[in-house]
Amino acid sequence: MPTPMIRYNPQGVFLPEHGLSPNELTGLAPRIASARDEVLADAKRWASAGEVPTDRQPLDAGFTELPERLLADYRDLGPKSEVGRIQLAADRLAASVDRVVFLGIGGSYMGARALEEACCHPFHNELARDQRGDRPRLSYAGNNVDNDVLHGLFDLLDRKGPSGLAGTGQDGTGQDGTGRAGTGTRLEDRWAIVVISKSGGTLETAAAFRILLKRLQSACAGNGEELARRVVPVTGKSGKLFDLAAALGCPDVFQVPDGVGGRFSVLSAVGLLPAAVMGLDIVELLEGAAAMNAHFRTAEPGENCVLDFTSVCHLMEVEQGADIRLLSTWGDRLESFGYWYDQLLAESLGKQERGALPLTVVNTRDLHSRGQQHQEGKRDKLITNLVVEQFSRQPLAIGRSELNQDGLNALATKTLPDILEAACKGTNQAYRAENRPTAGLHLPTLNEHVLGQLFQMFMLATVVEGRLIGINPYGQPGVEAYKKNMNAILRGEVS
Ligand code: PA5
Repeated sequence: MPTPMIRYNPQGVFLPEHGLSPNELTGLAPRIASARDEVLADAKRWASAGEVPTDRQPLDAGFTELPERLLADYRDLGPKSEVGRIQLAADRLAASVDRVVFLGIGGSYMGARALEEACCHPFHNELARDQRGDRPRLSYAGNNVDNDVLHGLFDLLDRKGPSGLAGTGQDGTGQDGTGRAGTGTRLEDRWAIVVISKSGGTLETAAAFRILLKRLQSACAGNGEELARRVVPVTGKSGKLFDLAAALGCPDVFQVPDGVGGRFSVLSAVGLLPAAVMGLDIVELLEGAAAMNAHFRTAEPGENCVLDFTSVCHLMEVEQGADIRLLSTWGDRLESFGYWYDQLLAESLGKQERGALPLTVVNTRDLHSRGQQHQEGKRDKLITNLVVEQFSRQPLAIGRSELNQDGLNALATKTLPDILEAACKGTNQAYRAENRPTAGLHLPTLNEHVLGQLFQMFMLATVVEGRLIGINPYGQPGVEAYKKNMNAILRGEVS
C-alpha cells in the first residue's frame, strides 16, 4: 500500500481576532498559483540550461526535479546510476568500518542529522552491530569549531574494542576474523570519513577534515590505498576538496549537482549518502519527494499543502504581523528536521531587511519552557504543529500499580501516544481560547517516504514564498561577511 501523503490543516488560524478568515486565503489563491507557476518555470529554465536573466540570478532551481531525475536514472542504469553508486559506496563503507564520521556544516550537515533522528533507532550508536542492521555508528564533526568536542570524538575513535587487539590484527594476518580484508585492525575499531562541502572551502569543515585525516592516516598505518577507501568526499565538480580527493585517490567521490544550493541539497548525495550509510531506503526518500512534486504541480490552492502552508504563513505575517514562525514538533524525532528548516527559511528569505524568523520547538518538552510566552506573550507568532499520526512501535500503556500514590491508576489504560495527543489537543484549545493561531501538519508516520515528502514540501514552500514576495530565495550573500573577516583575522591581515 502506498504511503499516504502529508496533510495540512489551517483550521486553527481561522479566529475571530488576530487570525485569518477563509476568504483571505481564497483571495490569495490566484497570486499563490502564479508564484507556483514561476517556480515551475524556474525549474524548466534551469533544466534547459538556457541563459538565466540577470534579475533571476542566482537560480539554483535544480533541486525541484532532482528526485525524478535521480529515480529515472536509477531505473535506466541501476548500479551505474548516481543512486546505485551511492548505495554501493554506502554498503562498502558499512561492511568495512564500524563508525562513519560525517563532516559538513549548514546544508551539508543538517539533512543527514534530521534523517538519522527521524528514521534511525533513537539509540543507534549504543546498539550492538547486529541490532544496528550491520550498519556503522554515526558521528558528526566539522559543523562547529569546538576543541574539546573534537578531542571527545578522538577518545571514541581511539577506543579499542573489547578484546583490545586493535592495531595489530588478531592473528597477525591483517584479517579481522570476519573474512573481510582488514588493515591490521578489527572491524569494530575501524572508522571512515564522509566529508561533505559543496564549495570545498568552508573553513569549519576543512579544518576538521585536515585534523581527522591525519588521525585516519595513522589509523591506516600509512596504507594510502586503505586511507583513500576510508574517505568519501561529496563536493562540487571542482574546488579544494575535489583536488584533495584526487590527490588522495579516493575511489568514490560524489558530486553536489550544479544548480542545487547547499540548503536545497538534502536529496542529492549530500543527504542520500549518509542516509544509505545509515541503512535507510534512499529510493523511498526520492519517491516521497517525487510524490510531493506531483501533488504540488497538480493540486489546486485549498487542497495543496505546499501552497496552503505558504499562504497561511505569508498572510499571517503581512496581515497580523506574525513574523515568528514556530515549527512545533511533537515527540522527540523531528527537532533536527526543525533545525534543517530553520536554515532553509532563514538563509533563503532573510534578505533585504525582511523574512520571518523560524523557531523550532519540541513539545511537550518546551511547553515547560517556552509555552508561557506562546500562550500570553507578544502576538507575533504563527504556530505550525508537526504531528506524527502513527508511531512505529507498540503504544506503551501507563498500567496499573499497587503503588498508586501518583494517582495514575485512573489513567492506567492510557498510552504515551494518548498523552501526547491530549497534550497537543489541549494546547491548541488553550491557544484558540486566546486567539493564538495554530495550523497542523500531519505526518502519517515517520519513514523515508514521509521524510522525502516533508523535505520537498518545505523546499518548495520556501521558493514559492520567495517568488510571492519578490525575494530571490537562492544564494546567501550575507553569510560571506563573517567568512571574510574570520579569514583576514586568522591570516593576521586585521586584528
Ligand atoms: O545553503 C548553503 O549554501 C549554505 O548554508 C551551505 O550549506 C553551508 O555554508 C556549507 O557550505 P559548503 O557545503 O560549501 O561547505
